[in-house]
Amino acid sequence: MDCLQDWPEPIVRVQSLSESGASTIPALYIKPPNDRPSPTTISNCHVSIPVIDMSDDPEHVARVVGSACREWGFFQVVNHGVDPKLMRCARDTWRGFFHEPMEIKQQYANSPKTYEGYGSRLGTKKGALLDWGDYYFLHVHPPSLINQEKWPALPSSLRPTTDEYAQELLQLCRRLMRVLSKGLGLKEGRLQEAFGGDKDGACLRVNFYPKCPQPDLTLGLSPHSDPGGMTVLQVDDHVKGLQVRKDGAWVTVQPVPDSFIINIADQIEVLSNGAYKSVEHRVMVSSTAERLSMAFFYNPCSDIPLAPIPQLVMPDRPPLFQPMTFNEYRLYIRKNGPKGKSQVESLKIAPKAVHV
Ligand code: OGA
Ligand code: NI
Repeated sequence: MDCLQDWPEPIVRVQSLSESGASTIPALYIKPPNDRPSPTTISNCHVSIPVIDMSDDPEHVARVVGSACREWGFFQVVNHGVDPKLMRCARDTWRGFFHEPMEIKQQYANSPKTYEGYGSRLGTKKGALLDWGDYYFLHVHPPSLINQEKWPALPSSLRPTTDEYAQELLQLCRRLMRVLSKGLGLKEGRLQEAFGGDKDGACLRVNFYPKCPQPDLTLGLSPHSDPGGMTVLQVDDHVKGLQVRKDGAWVTVQPVPDSFIINIADQIEVLSNGAYKSVEHRVMVSSTAERLSMAFFYNPCSDIPLAPIPQLVMPDRPPLFQPMTFNEYRLYIRKNGPKGKSQVESLKIAPKAVHV
């Protein structure tokens, strides 16, 4: 039996738990003490991920993006060319979906086979601890993978707005790929070429984190790195929640209004031979505010093996990762759920023994 056919347990919507008004959360959502959020991390008040103005001089942008990708794996962009009105419309229409009656949302319940639709867990391990969040996942590119039947019909603005948003973000990602290539000292089109040129792909995950009566005991999304190429995230700017791992500490991202939060995901870490970091991140929840985020996952063509780009492999920097296709790679998170950086670690090639 294919273990990805169905969920191992009946699905409980976190939003229903939240709306039940219970003052405690079920045991399955309670994290072990060491994995609970630590909002008092000392470094929080002093450091933050870089904020980059994409309308600056292109050489300067390539340099600062390159160093952000090496040091943080995360940065925020302003003046990115996407209309803030479209960003807001996209968030509003998806918030509208999550506030539709449950019977309407349930028509789109997802399965672990493709994950497309309305979901409340990642991973198919029976008895696994769960995160305090619901989501909606869909393919937005290439057109051959789009199935509009899987996109909510209500609110009526959702399909056209999501389509327009996806087109804009695809263009932004392709532009960022050129900047990332330059930052690695490669020709502009090199990363895109490794992604399969115009055979690249994209998915959207809209995360909805309802209010939680015991936010100190749980997480909205457990630590993970994103499996694809790069992620462009838009968040509610009045509610903090995203934390990024930096030198072993969790740093809370302070969202800049109308910006996107960009992060390097595993496939670009592999292609860059480890120069750019795909960094662990997680989400905290709140007892006073719900939070919506839209993660646009920009991915390589799913059936070509990805390996470090030969130009970035040198005698003193041997290839760090073995080749794998993205199709094969993403089965891991789909089965195991969010598990830190364990997957990209599993691709690592053991250093050769040095003979003296
Ligand atoms: C994700 C993610 C962060 C957030 O969807 O992969 O990391 O702030 N989301 O919701
Ligand atoms: Ni993520």
